[in-house]
Amino acid sequence: MDEPALVRQLVRRSLAWGGPLDAEEIVVTNSCTEALGLCLRAVTRPGDTVAVESPAYYLMLQLLETLGLRALEIPSDPRTGMSVEALDVAARDGRVAACLLVPNASNPLGSLMPEPKKRLLAALTATRGVALIEDDIYGDLCFDNQRP
Ligand SMILES: Cc1ncc(COP(=O)(O)O)c(C=O)c1O
Repeated sequence: MDEPALVRQLVRRSLAWGGPLDAEEIVVTNSCTEALGLCLRAVTRPGDTVAVESPAYYLMLQLLETLGLRALEIPSDPRTGMSVEALDVAARDGRVAACLLVPNASNPLGSLMPEPKKRLLAALTATRGVALIEDDIYGDLCFDNQRP
């Protein structure tokens, strides 16, 4: 059972995330890695392909390997992150089950995906039936006045 005071704080913080959450939507985990594992298990089966940034955070690649998933590296810009065009081409044949990425201050690139590109990515993955998993571990660390 999650700690209610913690969940309340997370709900309050989610007001700044552009999509306020209900307490029932929150699952508290022991780490970001555990959360990513749960997300991946929810939307993939062993043998599936998962699109990731290139370069990607190395533990993500280990996690994919542990779960029996294939990593498909998508070219990524050091300033604006994963190439939506390249993902579009890669996902055309319906063989990309999920896309796992760090749009805000990615590791190791530090890239920050601009808002319009995020919208494009969300629209594309919805159209192609690709589950989108956002690792937003660093969203609060961005330098802009406003949280991305
Ligand atoms: C992008 C990214 N995701 C996840 C993690 C791992 O987070 P945790 O230690 O909470 O599992 C890190 C740690 O460096 C990271 O850089």
